[in-house]
Amino acid sequence: MQSTGHSWDGIEEYDNPLPRWWLWTFYATIVWSVGYVLAYPAIPLIHGSTQGFIGTTPRDEVAVDIKRFADANAPIQQKLASVELGTIKDDPELVNYTANAGRAVFNTWCVQCHQAGGAGASGYPALVDDDWLWGGTIDDIHTTILHGIRSPDDPDSRYSEMPRFGADGILDAAQIDQVTNYVLALAKLPHDTAKAEAGATVYADNCVACHMEDGTGDRAQGAPNLTDAVWLYSEQGRPTEARIRQIIHDGPFGVMPAWSQRLSEADIRAVASYVHSLGGGE
Ligand code: HEC
Ligand code: HEC
Repeated sequence: MQSTGHSWDGIEEYDNPLPRWWLWTFYATIVWSVGYVLAYPAIPLIHGSTQGFIGTTPRDEVAVDIKRFADANAPIQQKLASVELGTIKDDPELVNYTANAGRAVFNTWCVQCHQAGGAGASGYPALVDDDWLWGGTIDDIHTTILHGIRSPDDPDSRYSEMPRFGADGILDAAQIDQVTNYVLALAKLPHDTAKAEAGATVYADNCVACHMEDGTGDRAQGAPNLTDAVWLYSEQGRPTEARIRQIIHDGPFGVMPAWSQRLSEADIRAVASYVHSLGGGE
């Protein structure tokens, strides 16, 4: 082994050349980098960077692709945005388009709250059933999505407010207990008969304006039907006495965002048709 002639305390330094293949690979990367720097945007300048002689970047190519799809969809989106809402379901081309585009919008903007496929969760209504708080026609659904529910961003938002019967001292604990049992009775769930009987009066005095005399609710106010098996507020999918008591005490205030500022009319219509087609559309 050849020595470089360097020696420290008797330890010598050998002269081992770098392997030839390694060295040539290294030179090749240098040559490649020069070409790359010239071809693509690379060197930062005060505003932006050098543009490169190829004149295009992967980012531009994606933008071109996006524009190509947007242009291809423009005619059908224009058509969708301008037809009568009620006629969408009779036009096979629009049905086909809204099924796909509507699902894509739903999976981007709605699943966080309404869950996969619109299955719903406590406080977030299921959109697959035929139980509607605010109405299940395509026009109702379109209005709900466009303006939201109790949305502070939209003056046309759907609005109603159930009083906070306990928190604001409108009813005392005994009355809340009674009316809770009355609601359980309306829903045909286990309850205390004597309390439910007393609760009938509390209900008549405080609840009929929205939930109606027979408890079937009022769509004009988004007041849920209390007599059916579908519950907006539940625990693990089931209504419980504790949850109902808490709702009456604290008052519910479900907020659904308004989408008029965030989505195009075509996207709103696509997702409205998609929701309408999930099974419960009227
Ligand atoms: C931040 C959560 C949230 C998001 C996101 C959201 N929603 Fe909602 N949505 C709600 C809540 C809460 C309600 C129920 C409000 C109430 O209590 O009346 C609701 C109600 C609805 C209703 C009315 C249901 C009925 O029974 O009348 C429809 C339809 C609906 N949402 C569709 C959508 C669509 C479509 C999207 C996506 C573009 C969406 N929502 C996004 C929270 C959300
Ligand atoms: C001003 C109208 C109004 C009045 C009065 C009212 N409610 Fe409500 N109630 C609503 C609305 C609206 C909702 C749904 C609110 C939401 O989703 O944020 C609701 C929801 C409920 C729920 C939850 C239902 C579910 O499906 O989970 C119960 C239980 C209930 N109300 C009971 C009562 C009782 C009992 C009274 C009388 C003591 C009463 N409400 C008075 C409007 C009203």
